[in-house]
Amino acid sequence: MILKNDLLLRAARGEKTERVPVWLMRQAGRILPEYRKVKSSAGGFIELATTPELAAEVTVQPVDILGVDAAIIFSDILVVPEAMGLPYRMVEGKGPWFEKTIRSEADLMKIRIAEPEADLGYVAEAIKITKRELNGRVPLIGFAGAPWTIFSYMIEGAGSKTFSKAKKMLYTEPKFSHRLLGMITESTVRYLQMQVRSGADLVQVFDSWAGILSPSQYEEFGLKYISKICDAIDTVPVTVFAKGAYFARKEMGGLSCETIGLDWNMDIPDSKRLIGDSKTLQGNLDPCVLYGSDQEIERQAIGMLKSFGGHRHIANLGHGIYPDISPEKVKVFIETVKNWRPD
Ligand code: CP3
Repeated sequence: MILKNDLLLRAARGEKTERVPVWLMRQAGRILPEYRKVKSSAGGFIELATTPELAAEVTVQPVDILGVDAAIIFSDILVVPEAMGLPYRMVEGKGPWFEKTIRSEADLMKIRIAEPEADLGYVAEAIKITKRELNGRVPLIGFAGAPWTIFSYMIEGAGSKTFSKAKKMLYTEPKFSHRLLGMITESTVRYLQMQVRSGADLVQVFDSWAGILSPSQYEEFGLKYISKICDAIDTVPVTVFAKGAYFARKEMGGLSCETIGLDWNMDIPDSKRLIGDSKTLQGNLDPCVLYGSDQEIERQAIGMLKSFGGHRHIANLGHGIYPDISPEKVKVFIETVKNWRPD
């Protein structure tokens, strides 16, 4: 299938583009009333994510409603621990919750490396339906959590401010930690390869809790495994988004991925210098800018675009969009990017 709009893929590969492509992390979701309607008809988040026709419907919504240059498959990073043997629930207003966690050797014996075709076939199906419905309009992004972020949830069993149980495990049981991280990495590689076989045009690895590790811990328990994932995906571009990992930008420049996502704390010229010009950069507007006036959103977005320079850039926020942001404000951001041209 030939894509009518392949700006995202060309920008990721470092080719020249007529304008900067734009999409938003967490674009498929609660900011859209149309999403909330489909979710309530499905009965809840997990029911929605595991029903391929409905997951495909909410994946396409932001393309139709917001006019973004890419769709991202509607799912969650937590389907990987589930496929490994730890089911989760999404508690309304609170977030994810796991009944079982991994704390001991005995717990490790009860889980397995995921077999995506058997355990995550609904995601493959949702990708195939989405590709059909997009009909080449924009590329489809697949994704997974990075091993360290998934490890954190498997140890903690829920979100946390400090993730101190997960960090403690790295300090007290490094061998055990490496075994679990290895299992997660293998599961993730298989899962992303399945997404690519099903039609994903680019894949993004989300390391949401990268920033809570020390630089040396991140090198040993974070980047090492992300690097294995990047090496294993070689037919589509890969984006690595490691939130808070400002201290590892130089090392990220050495990964075999095409794009590095920046959060809003990462200075743009510094990031370019540290990461080097062999990578495309994605980001990095502070999501809270979208609470501002239309004029302020335009001003901030143009400032960001100029700083990136209009080449090897994929415009996005510096993290996922917040649920109480108005879709009208999101459209102001998207239109500003689409109308901007470098001097
Ligand atoms: O980006 C997209 O639009 C695609 C879908 C997507 C979701 N989650 C759907 C979702 C993606 C890419 C994710 C990734 C994800 N999930 C991450 C990494 C990115 C990040 O934000 O750091 C993380 C850490 C999770 C785990 C997770 N899922 C949490 C902590 C929560 C609860 C908090 C929250 O943001 O709601 C979720 C729930 C979740 N995942 C929702 C959606 C749309 C909200 C569920 C609902 O509709 O009520």
